[in-house]
Amino acid sequence: MAQKHQDSFYEGWLYHFLVDPLLRRVHRLVRSQVKPGSTLIDIGCGTGELLFSLADVGSDLVGVETSRGMWSFANRQAQTRGFNNVQILFGDGAKLEKFSTGFFDYAIACMVLHEMGASQRLPVLQEMKRLASNLILVDYRVPAPTNLAVTMCRFIERLAGPRHFRNYTSFINGGGLLSLYEILGLTVRKQLTFYSQCIHLVLL
Ligand SMILES: C[S@@+](CC[C@H](N)C(=O)[O-])C[C@H]1O[C@@H](n2cnc3c(N)ncnc32)[C@H](O)[C@@H]1O
Repeated sequence: MAQKHQDSFYEGWLYHFLVDPLLRRVHRLVRSQVKPGSTLIDIGCGTGELLFSLADVGSDLVGVETSRGMWSFANRQAQTRGFNNVQILFGDGAKLEKFSTGFFDYAIACMVLHEMGASQRLPVLQEMKRLASNLILVDYRVPAPTNLAVTMCRFIERLAGPRHFRNYTSFINGGGLLSLYEILGLTVRKQLTFYSQCIHLVLL
């Protein structure tokens, strides 16, 4: 069952100034995997920075956010920065009935699955599989190596609050992305590992 989203203290401007710069390299890697002219949906689009970085590559882009703070921030950014082919929707990535099967070329979830409750992950992934023939997932790599980058990431996840850290821990202990796409019978087409092997991008 979908959990009701509770907005966190860091959503909006704080996330934009502290976390978005750290994810710029990740967003560039996602961009490098998207074919020009594609349509795409970005689940858990946050402040919208990934979508904005794809706006000149994709034709029509949709972001979905379950946090009101992030959603309104991303919407304002899209308007003031003039991204006319980007639409940001408020809602749950597991419930996108308004879009027909195969509506998009790509469905992307970048640093999102570790953040949601364990029961939400499969329904979101299932909906992504229904919506697009190409999935791009970016998240913490499991098993994690023992290095400074992983320690730093754990620290950042802890700072985000107890609920956030619980979800992160359940994601890591549950086997990360691999355990999720195996259940859905999805095959890995490409995998890129970066940030000292702490994070990986998986193309399914
Ligand atoms: C760490 S942020 C990542 C933001 C963005 N993808 C990026 O790469 O910059 C994760 C976002 O996923 C959103 N989220 C979590 N569960 C979601 C769901 N079921 N549907 C839509 N968004 C969700 C959260 O509100 C949060 O803003």
